[in-house]
Amino acid sequence: MGSLRSMFCRHAMCRKFIIICCAVVNMVQSHEFYDLKPVKLGCEIRGIDIGNPIPEEVIEQIKKDVTEHRLLIFKDQHNISPNGHVRIGRWFGDLESSFFTQHPKSPLRDIYRVSNDGSEGLRAIGTTSWHSDCLYLPKFCSYSIFHVINVSKEAETDFVPLNEIVEGLSESQLSKWEKLWLVVIRKEVRVDHPLIYSHPESNKKVLSLPTGFVKAFAWDTGDGTKFLSDREGSTEIRNEILSVLKRRLEDLKYPHMWEVGDFIIADNQAVAHWAPPSSQKPRTEVGLRVLHRVTVAGKEAPERKYDSFKEKDEL
Ligand SMILES: *[C@@H]1O[C@H](CO)[C@@H](O)[C@H](O)[C@H]1NC(C)=O
Repeated sequence: MGSLRSMFCRHAMCRKFIIICCAVVNMVQSHEFYDLKPVKLGCEIRGIDIGNPIPEEVIEQIKKDVTEHRLLIFKDQHNISPNGHVRIGRWFGDLESSFFTQHPKSPLRDIYRVSNDGSEGLRAIGTTSWHSDCLYLPKFCSYSIFHVINVSKEAETDFVPLNEIVEGLSESQLSKWEKLWLVVIRKEVRVDHPLIYSHPESNKKVLSLPTGFVKAFAWDTGDGTKFLSDREGSTEIRNEILSVLKRRLEDLKYPHMWEVGDFIIADNQAVAHWAPPSSQKPRTEVGLRVLHRVTVAGKEAPERKYDSFKEKDEL
């Protein structure tokens, strides 16, 4: 059976309409390879076991669906070994594992193992701020792929879509943010990233969220140079970004409550995530939480494919 979309929809508007309808009535979109059920952000996927080798055309469909839906939550994946997890990561490109420490219990160098128990995995990872993974690399990670190993009582990870935040900005705020750069410093290495850039696959405008590694901001002056903001100015900009984020989280946040067998492929540049501090409650209180993550290297540095100095009414 062909997908609903290809049967009825050649037009992009129509495709959007079907997706919105599905989201409203929570209808399952049938696919020839698996079922997609839209959730608040992305889709839940059933009817496929990706722990087994699967044909190339199915892999291509999964890649298309990640770009379109941004978050794919595969349910009931009880069959994915650490090697299988790494193999799935390589569908998307080379893995990027240089930036993290391997925990002694991590089965492979490419698997980042986090936990609420330090003897089982690295503690308190990704719990201080909303982020996309490895922002401090020149080409930050393109995909983050999670497999839950042990589910504690409060084993939540929250996700938020980034394009919607940009689209919700006022015209003046957008025009200001489009001229801003994050100055990211880690281990004395500085990388500048545009605050707003064009997603490499969808070309939609997305946001790099300021984590603790963002030490300052810089402004485009319009003649190819940058002006570095001082400490006070940087604090002000950071607060402005975080207050917009906080306001939008109310309607945009998708809290994912992990269940055994969940396997998530996230487009790391289209969605940001964090584990709320509650995820670090002690094992004695909430049980053991263990999560494995594989990260895929970005193919290009974040780039603005729009002109941030163009007058809007010239468009
Ligand atoms: C954690 O998950 C592993 C793999 O499923 C299992 O063997 C182990 O017993 C679990 N540990 C706890 C404490 O639940």
